[in-house]
Amino acid sequence: MDMKGVWEEMEECHRRGLARAVGVSNFACKKLEHLLSFARIPPAANQVEVHPYCRQNKLREFCREKGIQLCAYSPLGGNGTPWANNSVMDSPVLKQIAQDRGKTVAQVCIRWVYEQGDCVIAKSFNESRMRENLDIFGWELTDDDHRKISDLPESRGNYNFLVHESGPYKTVEELWDGRSLPATASKRRSFRLIDEHL
Ligand SMILES: NC(=O)c1ccc[n+]([C@@H]2O[C@H](COP(=O)([O-])OP(=O)(O)OC[C@H]3O[C@@H](n4cnc5c(N)ncnc54)[C@H](OP(=O)(O)O)[C@@H]3O)[C@@H](O)[C@H]2O)c1
Repeated sequence: MDMKGVWEEMEECHRRGLARAVGVSNFACKKLEHLLSFARIPPAANQVEVHPYCRQNKLREFCREKGIQLCAYSPLGGNGTPWANNSVMDSPVLKQIAQDRGKTVAQVCIRWVYEQGDCVIAKSFNESRMRENLDIFGWELTDDDHRKISDLPESRGNYNFLVHESGPYKTVEELWDGRSLPATASKRRSFRLIDEHL
């Protein structure tokens, strides 16, 4: 993939005032390093999967050093999407934390992301859930809550649909800088649901 050519065009959009800021998505550290080696305008943000089971600590630190805002998509684990499942919302540990704080699991997830300093993109088509998702201020998670979340096993959505033997990234590990993590949705389920969506 011609990353340099694409980024130069993004920079041109910024210079012409067509975009107030330009950023990237699903970039791990290596790809960001490569981009920063030629970018005249660094990306303002990097949008990646972040939730209590996909914590992105290394990437967050890297982005912070480089002045790139980490932006969390699927903060609730992307339940209902083809590439994930309900394991975050069904987590007994998160349910217990939610009960202890008198909040919902969704609020715990979004508050946790917010406390990491990331910006959050939670999606809902339901007005009461949108209101619930905004109600994450005026309270905080305790050190013990943070410790419990840090101890959760890490996983991420199923990204098989983004890789192909003839594409720029041939395996999911390559897409994520060689870091192998279990996928929250099985390959078969992921493809079946994508077919249904199409
Ligand atoms: N850049 C990328 O590659 C990328 C990848 C994935 C997603 N994204 C973006 O990130 C945003 C969010 O990600 P996402 O939709 O994958 O996952 P998410 O925000 O983690 O979860 C969304 C799901 O949770 C449900 N939900 C929302 N609030 C809830 C609550 N309070 N309680 C229970 N369920 C709740 C929603 O259903 P209802 O609508 O019925 O409430 C929806 O099914 C989207 O706008 C998406 O476009 C970007």
